[in-house]
Amino acid sequence: MSERTIALVTGANKGIGYEIAAGLGALGWRVGVGARDDRRREAAVEKLRAAGVDAFGVPLDVSDDASATAAARLIEDRAGRLDVLVNNAAITGGMPQQPTQVEPATIRTVMETNVIGVIRVTNAMLPLLRRSASPRIVNMSSTVGSLTRQAGTTAEQTAGPVAVAYAPSKTFLNAVTLQYARELSGTNILINLACPGYVATDLNGFRGVRTPEQGAAIAVKLATLPDDGPTGQFFDDAGTVPW
Ligand SMILES: NC(=O)c1ccc[n+]([C@@H]2O[C@H](COP(=O)([O-])OP(=O)(O)OC[C@H]3O[C@@H](n4cnc5c(N)ncnc54)[C@H](OP(=O)(O)O)[C@@H]3O)[C@@H](O)[C@H]2O)c1
Repeated sequence: MSERTIALVTGANKGIGYEIAAGLGALGWRVGVGARDDRRREAAVEKLRAAGVDAFGVPLDVSDDASATAAARLIEDRAGRLDVLVNNAAITGGMPQQPTQVEPATIRTVMETNVIGVIRVTNAMLPLLRRSASPRIVNMSSTVGSLTRQAGTTAEQTAGPVAVAYAPSKTFLNAVTLQYARELSGTNILINLACPGYVATDLNGFRGVRTPEQGAAIAVKLATLPDDGPTGQFFDDAGTVPW
């Protein structure tokens, strides 16, 4: 089994996920680059390797059971265990997303990736995480999933546009993460939620104001928590995000 810390980042071929992989790689970790498209995955792996990261490709479509199972098998073969899982992959489902006009299929598709995808990948990886001395799970959420923020009355409080699939998918993910934290409370697994802030990526047509590297920082921090670190909490760079 490898002496180096082993991480898997889902949706790591671009955007914030790529920068999380780069940030963990810069720590000297071995990083699995989870991505569903062969060409995009290999391009990211090559770029990370050129930057000195010990990266390897992990074919992974988070909406597919067989893909998650195969990804776990690949990591077991390559490393024998997993120390850190960053569930980063997500979609918005397209905008606008007005509640009065949304297609039910949009809700299903977004939930399949952003919520069920996280559960699917986490459960596929848990046997490998349980072999780690200090397992960490980081779920990429968003302040748009904060009910407190969404119930606010100012534009600043209600981060993001009205989005009846994407925003509640992050609320659901937050709730799911708390259930994991409760079940895993007697173990050494720490599981937390990260909001990267408003980052310029494909997800928002590059309208965000932060760089993907800035957005990745909170995930890297939660991936490197000490053994007595928090679990079942929701953070951004400024501290705790209200539920
Ligand atoms: N950007 C922001 O301002 C912002 C704010 C708050 C939270 N977030 C969260 O941060 C995370 C990263 O977002 P981002 O802005 O970096 O978005 P992005 O640039 O659109 O990247 C999303 C990544 O997820 C992957 N992905 C989507 N569906 C997938 C699937 N079924 N299987 C595997 N991979 C899949 C994409 O792969 P493909 O290239 O194959 O599509 C891509 O690698 C997300 O969880 C997002 O909700 C972002």
